[in-house]
Amino acid sequence: MLRLLSIIGARPQIIKAAAISRAVRTQFAGQIEEHILHTGQHYDDNMSEVFFRELGIPSPDYNLHVGSGSHAEQTGEMLKGIEKVLQGEPIGNSRLEIGDVKPFDGVILYGDTNSTLAGALAASKLQVPVFHVEAGLRSFNMSMPEEINRIVADRLGNLLFAPTQTAVRNLEAEGVGCNVYGEQHAWQKVVLSGDVMYDNSMYFSAMADMKSDIIERLGLSYRNFVLATIHRPANTDNPENLRSIFRALSDIAASGVDVIFPCHPRTRKKLSDESLEFRESSHFHLIDPVSFFEIIRLEKNARVVMTDSGGVQKEAFFYGTPCVILRPETEWVEIVDAGAGILADAGYERIMKAYADLSGREVYFPPLFGDAHASERILSEIIDFFN
Ligand code: UD1
Ligand code: UDP
Repeated sequence: MLRLLSIIGARPQIIKAAAISRAVRTQFAGQIEEHILHTGQHYDDNMSEVFFRELGIPSPDYNLHVGSGSHAEQTGEMLKGIEKVLQGEPIGNSRLEIGDVKPFDGVILYGDTNSTLAGALAASKLQVPVFHVEAGLRSFNMSMPEEINRIVADRLGNLLFAPTQTAVRNLEAEGVGCNVYGEQHAWQKVVLSGDVMYDNSMYFSAMADMKSDIIERLGLSYRNFVLATIHRPANTDNPENLRSIFRALSDIAASGVDVIFPCHPRTRKKLSDESLEFRESSHFHLIDPVSFFEIIRLEKNARVVMTDSGGVQKEAFFYGTPCVILRPETEWVEIVDAGAGILADAGYERIMKAYADLSGREVYFPPLFGDAHASERILSEIIDFFN
């Protein structure tokens, strides 16, 4: 039996881990024993616990409760805690008895947050194999903390699970997996797995329709509202960007189209720090972060999604909803190439033009993110790694 440790911390990682955890329980229960370590990077109920409840993820075996802080503080605390867990030392709030602690055969990491970085560093220094889900994504923008995190995780990972062909090409271009002669390293392998978020979006789609009444509750009509989210430092920490995004959203709401804005805590904080005033309107709904079922229903039924989120961008695509990407570049270039997303960055005119373009034209959504069985492929590869 393989003992694997899934390391998660931020909202999108909890959601991604749901797909892997479900596949372990339903298809690999006889071969894999999964344990979960939550770093505590996200901790509000609506940023963490809600996803465990709704998506049926087992409670974490360990929670490091690192909370918020500077990059160094947050990553440093995580490194110390993860190292202890991997060495079998008690960490105070583990669900496991000390005598139960056995070494882990490998760690599974997701995406590109500080929790991913800490997991990659702590495990590789202890020679614990690292399996990176969502490997090979690149924005080529080194001012993004995520770009730094993912480059390190991909450099250190043993199995790199690329969700798209572009991600595979990015890794090949960096020579990951090979020596200078182009020969494959024995210790590192790139696998085109498909996207675990697509697995989730397909699996939970009908359930969300049944269980969420957010469309009715907010009085929205089908394909006649905009769903918007922002949380990237490039937008939240730049008052000019924050203002022009809110100006665009306010104008859309003033035109009579409902705008639903589930507000990330980072953004909420910045809105009050900047005392940002946007035109109040009965069509502008600034709400708390919503659950996965609620966001799925919003993504499926919106006319247009506007976001700087990687996950929301992709889910909009999975559900056939066009997306204005509030960033200068994206890791998910396929969406832009397919014409289903427009890079608008944060300027008012570009946002309004992209919104008008996407509202007015027919948009196509070719299948680009796998077959909704990425998780099974990933777990089979991990089993093969040990054989
Ligand atoms: C993090 C990830 C980012 C990911 C995002 C998903 C890094 C460097 N960034 O960004 O890649 O896209 O999560 O949402 O890892 N806060 C709360 N309650 C919470 C969590 C956060 O109030 O439960 C507030 C705190 O003020 C905190 C701020 O949000 O300082 C930012 O949180 P943090 O986890 O540092 O970064 P995110 O912006 O969430
Ligand atoms: N999400 C959610 N509720 C919200 C906003 C987002 O459940 O109010 C989900 C969304 O469906 C996606 C993930 O969170 O699966 C994306 O996380 P986020 O935007 O925080 O981070 P990113 O994907 O940009 O790293």
